[in-house]
Amino acid sequence: MILLKARLGMELPPINKALDNAVKALHPSVQPVARHIFDAGGKRLRPLLVVLMARLLGCTDNRVYELAVCMEMLHAATLLHDDVLDNADSRRGHPAAHTLFGVTPTILAGDALLATANGLVARFDDPALCRCFSAATSQTAAGEILEIASQHQVNVTAETYDAIIRGKTAWLIRASCEMGALYAGGNVMQVAAAADYGENVGMAFQLVDDALDFADSAVTGKPSGGDVREGKLTPPLRLYRQHLSPAERTSFDTAFAKGLFSEEDASRIGEAIRRQGFDAKARDEAQDYLDRALMALDRLPQCREQDVLREMTNYVRDRKK
Ligand code: IPE
Ligand code: IPE
Ligand code: MG
Ligand code: MG
Repeated sequence: MILLKARLGMELPPINKALDNAVKALHPSVQPVARHIFDAGGKRLRPLLVVLMARLLGCTDNRVYELAVCMEMLHAATLLHDDVLDNADSRRGHPAAHTLFGVTPTILAGDALLATANGLVARFDDPALCRCFSAATSQTAAGEILEIASQHQVNVTAETYDAIIRGKTAWLIRASCEMGALYAGGNVMQVAAAADYGENVGMAFQLVDDALDFADSAVTGKPSGGDVREGKLTPPLRLYRQHLSPAERTSFDTAFAKGLFSEEDASRIGEAIRRQGFDAKARDEAQDYLDRALMALDRLPQCREQDVLREMTNYVRDRKK
């Protein structure tokens, strides 16, 4: 992970500076919520992807950071909203914003972030960028809506799960790559390859996130076992359920449908999932998507950034937070 680490060290300061400037453009009433989520850290994966894809295709100007942080703002808005939807009390190793500022101010701060990011993208005067940002926003919402509609149902199909994660997570990562490529003036084939890379990395990213739902919250900075408690049939849970005896499955299904799992139940299930390696299986599944992402990179110019984006696929598979 040497290349990725070194590049991140180089890109983080300008990304965070651009983010700081963007926060200043927000209405003062929502700045505390925005600062809370941005100052807590986060990996800045999406803005990094915008910058890497743009550089890969020859962009040399530094206004790309302004564009890149629009994706982090959209991402942060989805996190603010998501923690309300998921009843999650921690994020990035800190109390989730809604537990400190209240639900309504947090939802509205998310909306303000979205609106401001939208305006910042529009300043680039490129309809293709606006279309891409808008598609990412609505597809993310559609994924979250589908997930909420599928909660507490044990018969959710693998296809529905696929549609959920493609919407809620992969689209935003795809759009980050696509916007970088568009900004650099990439041709149609290159923009499509960038989008293809991003979408596959995004699918893998969420599969690994679903494995990490059973990891130590002190490491992930997010609650552990949330998917069990919230009735989300992610791949590790689907495998766990399949391996139960008929009697055990009946009682699992009842508790899952009614949302009756306690913290203790969730940690017991998490332990069984880790012991049986069902979380590791999700990482194996992620590798299939990452292989496709690597194939998409073959359609893009060979350069330093391409090597970093290759390393990124290993990082996504192995990440611990
Ligand atoms: C969390 O995204 C939400 C998902 C799509 C799984 P990240 O894991 O990129 O969160 P931060 O930005 O690093 O906190
Ligand atoms: C990730 O959903 C997608 C969005 C935040 C839109 P999750 O609910 O799986 O993500 P975490 O685990 O809370 O970060
Ligand atoms: Mg969540
Ligand atoms: Mg969620």
